[in-house]
Amino acid sequence: MSVWATLFQPAVKMKTLSILVVILTLSAINALTDYRDCGSTSGHINSIKLTPPCLHNPCDLLRGTNVSVEVDFTSKVQTSNVSTFVYGIILGLPVPFLTVPHDSCKSNNLACPVAANSRNIYTNYVSVLPVYPLMRLLVQWEIKDDSGNNIVCFVLPAQLTDSTGPVVG
Ligand SMILES: *[C@@H]1O[C@H](CO)[C@@H](O)[C@H](O)[C@H]1NC(C)=O
Ligand SMILES: *[C@@H]1O[C@H](CO)[C@@H](O)[C@H](O)[C@H]1NC(C)=O
Repeated sequence: MSVWATLFQPAVKMKTLSILVVILTLSAINALTDYRDCGSTSGHINSIKLTPPCLHNPCDLLRGTNVSVEVDFTSKVQTSNVSTFVYGIILGLPVPFLTVPHDSCKSNNLACPVAANSRNIYTNYVSVLPVYPLMRLLVQWEIKDDSGNNIVCFVLPAQLTDSTGPVVG
C-alpha cells in the first residue's frame, strides 16, 4: 500500500461516516412526520412519508405544489375497492380536500383487490392550491375498505405556507 493510500484511507472513512450521518439525520427528519392514528380499524399503519419531506411539526404544505404522501400499511381485511377521503380540520370542523384523488385502486399504485393480512404501499398526493389560506390545520387522511371502515386513518398537523424556511418562534 502506498503512503498516499494509507494517508487517504482515514479520509475515505470519514467521508463514508459523514454520508452515514447525513442519511441517519434525514431519516430522523422524516420521522418528524408526527401523525396520530385516528382509528385504523381494518388495518395497521407501518409508516408515513411525505415528499418533500416533513422538516418540522407542523409539516409545511407549500402552496402551488403537489405534496405526495406514501403510506406503508397492512390491511386486516380483503377489499375490492379502496377509497381515500382527506379533510382539513379547521376550527374543529372537517372540510373536504377536493384536490385529492378518491379512487385509490386507479390512481395510487395499489394492486386491487387488496388481500387480507397483506402489506401494501400506497401513494397519493394533495394539490396545495395557491388560493388556500395561509394557516395551520390538521389534515385527516382516511383510506377506506369496501364496508367504509378505515384501513388507515391518520391526523397530521400541517401549515399552509409559501416558504419552507425554518420556522422562527
Ligand atoms: C399536481 O399533479 C397533477 C396530477 O398529476 C398535475 O395535473 C398538476 O399539474 C400537478 N401540479 C403541480 C403544481 O405540480
Ligand atoms: C367496487 O367499485 C366498482 C366500480 O365503482 C363497483 O362496480 C363495485 O361494486 C365495487 N365493489 C364493492 C365490493 O364495493
